Amino acid sequence: MNPKLTMNGREASFTQGQTILDVARVHGVRIPTLCHLEEARPTGLCRICVVEVEGEDQLLPACATPAGEGMNVHTASERVMVSRRTNLELLMATGYHSCPACEAAGDCRLQDLAYEFQLEEIHYPRVKGDFPTQDQKPLIYRDFSKCVLCGRCMAACDEIQVNLSIPYSFGRREDHGGPAGWYPLADPDLCVLCGECVQACPVGALLERKARGRGRTWEMTRVLATCPFGSVGCRVRLNLKDGRLVKVDGDKEAAPNRGRLCVMGRFLYDFVESEDRLTTPLIREDGELREASWEEALDLVAGKLREIIDRDGPDAIGGIAPAGSSNEDAFQMQKLFRAVIGTNNIDAARRSHAPAVEALAEVFGAGASTNALADVEQAAMILVVGSGAREAHPVAASFIKQAARSGAGLIVAEPAAGTLTEFAGLHLPVKEGDEAAFLNVLMRIVIDEGLYDQAYVQSKTTGFEVLKKSLEAYAPDRVARRFGVEAAVLEKAARQLAAAKPAVVVYGAGKCEPEKIRQAALAAANLQLLLGNVGVAGGGLTLLGGPCNAQGACDMGALPGFLPGGRKVGDAEARGIFEKAWQCILPQGPGLDTTGMAEALAEGRLKALYVSGENLAARANPNAARMAACLQAGGFVIAQDVLDNETTKLAHVVLPVTAWCEEEGTVTSAERRVSLSPKALQAPGQARPAWWIYKEIASRLGKTWPEASARQVWEEGVARLVPALAGVGYGRLAGDGLQWPVPDASHPGTARLHENGVFSKGKAAFTPAG
Ligand code: SF4
Ligand code: SF4
Ligand code: FES
Repeated sequence: MNPKLTMNGREASFTQGQTILDVARVHGVRIPTLCHLEEARPTGLCRICVVEVEGEDQLLPACATPAGEGMNVHTASERVMVSRRTNLELLMATGYHSCPACEAAGDCRLQDLAYEFQLEEIHYPRVKGDFPTQDQKPLIYRDFSKCVLCGRCMAACDEIQVNLSIPYSFGRREDHGGPAGWYPLADPDLCVLCGECVQACPVGALLERKARGRGRTWEMTRVLATCPFGSVGCRVRLNLKDGRLVKVDGDKEAAPNRGRLCVMGRFLYDFVESEDRLTTPLIREDGELREASWEEALDLVAGKLREIIDRDGPDAIGGIAPAGSSNEDAFQMQKLFRAVIGTNNIDAARRSHAPAVEALAEVFGAGASTNALADVEQAAMILVVGSGAREAHPVAASFIKQAARSGAGLIVAEPAAGTLTEFAGLHLPVKEGDEAAFLNVLMRIVIDEGLYDQAYVQSKTTGFEVLKKSLEAYAPDRVARRFGVEAAVLEKAARQLAAAKPAVVVYGAGKCEPEKIRQAALAAANLQLLLGNVGVAGGGLTLLGGPCNAQGACDMGALPGFLPGGRKVGDAEARGIFEKAWQCILPQGPGLDTTGMAEALAEGRLKALYVSGENLAARANPNAARMAACLQAGGFVIAQDVLDNETTKLAHVVLPVTAWCEEEGTVTSAERRVSLSPKALQAPGQARPAWWIYKEIASRLGKTWPEASARQVWEEGVARLVPALAGVGYGRLAGDGLQWPVPDASHPGTARLHENGVFSKGKAAFTPAG
């Protein structure tokens, strides 16, 4: 039976560990708060939430006081209300709270409380001037004249994002000549500009600089969308005014990120209004790109493709599909290539996610992360392999750091010490590209010492002996020398991993070569099978890599060897399903991947390359110069994109496409979560949705497609042809989305694949990696 207390004369039950505030909320009693921050430990700083507990001399902060059996609590007695009012006045006296001009007016807890308490006079002297400032242009604006020293920013930074950028001792007020206290100045060397502190600040002391003056909170409409950058699939809230995107913030209720965002998701949304937006089709003439009509550009593209198909065959054309756009975009592009042009030369996410997807399909029978990101919270041990997990996915890293703080073991194998390694029990400096060797040596030790899960291996897998043989080349002494560590460190890592159950492996590919990514993913999958960690809560393998729809592009068949839904192009039965739906004969052999297509273009074997949403020649890419040379080698290059970039500059035809939230569409995150972003903005100029562009080209090549919206592409194409997505309709995606497989309209989605070691292909297949 649950313990009970009395609150305002009524009995209220509670569970051990709940605070008085928790109990009040559960029982519908309102206690005002200010410094309290969900997910962070209470600090009890502001004392707005004080309550009277009979028998206690002092009023107690409800947010920081555990509920106790038999307590008699008064949440709104006269003594309580007087104290709250006094505390509120003291907070108001901390600085200059000039509401009419303050950016936060309408979205300020202090203002709300002042209204609630009808606070017209403050009986305490205001703290005077010399407020510290910190300039983090152009992103964060700090105005400490409005800071009420509530500590929420510090808690958000320290406990939610776990960046530890706002130390208590940093920027103490006494250093600025004032009374004892502190100002929450971030250490610029540690701050990653995630903006969690801005989101947590209850007043106008921390603001997004770009959004200042662009709209009050009550003037904005808010809609949920999915971040267009990383593969975690963070849900974001768009704040819109007069058809423009004013700012983006997180939604605490939304999975998988629970309100957390990184610098890109929170602040780089304004690319939609960039001066580099492509707003009209362009055609190269006399060496220069000139503006053209859609009719002219599409006629030219279709005419060129027809000419090449007739003269050189369909395999002389290649397509690179976007991994940062929608599922509908990737699906229609691969359909254009397979069903209309007649080639499997279609690829996406090759330098991030696709090779790992292909590897997991080989081992497990499903090419995707096995577990949800939230599973790290249930893991006894987390092994992070590759630098991509930390660098490119700070939100995922924040959950890992929190889990490590809560007691999970953490082993990090990445080249340099970084934010994650500070929380790790072991850091192994494994260089990019050496991940497979590292995982192989761990397996060798686990097998040699008999630490593997023999029952699991025997009943759930095939190929153990072949794997064991392949590991003979990975003697710990030799591999340890290569990594510059003692063999004993590798042994320690292997023993710790084997001893902790469940253990999850998080693999972040970084900027590796595709084949290295494939090998690392194979090895990670083998390791988890060996330890019996696949199909269990807190276990499995989580891939983190690539742009927002890297997984979705693979699911949609934007791969040279796989049809939508992950069946191989050589599978006649699978081909038959698509041939019937699309009224065509599909090509049988695997096509070229991205690198293969670029090289074939350079050698003249490929006569045309259609690059959609992928800046192949981006200066930041490790092989940018080679890619630029391939694109300039003489083949016909079509570039379809949102922004002008190094690749569009080299193209013969440039097609401007709508950006994120200018057309509705779905993406699929690294944890297989399909979510919907709405059409919330108008596209500039003549930018058009991708589905429309492919439909127009198909029509000029003699195929009439009926779909007249992204929704129709999904519901009449994807959902009908991909069994794992059959139960996903747009109508079910209003909230957090659904994790596939979702076989029918009543299925709730699947957080964990291969539950209890049951694999769709019967047994999982160890596949040696090297
Ligand atoms: S922006 Fe992020 S890292 Fe920087 S101080 Fe704020 S919460 Fe900490
Ligand atoms: S900056 Fe904001 S969140 Fe941080 S202590 Fe001041 S008022 Fe609180
Ligand atoms: S909300 Fe409880 S002390 Fe501030």
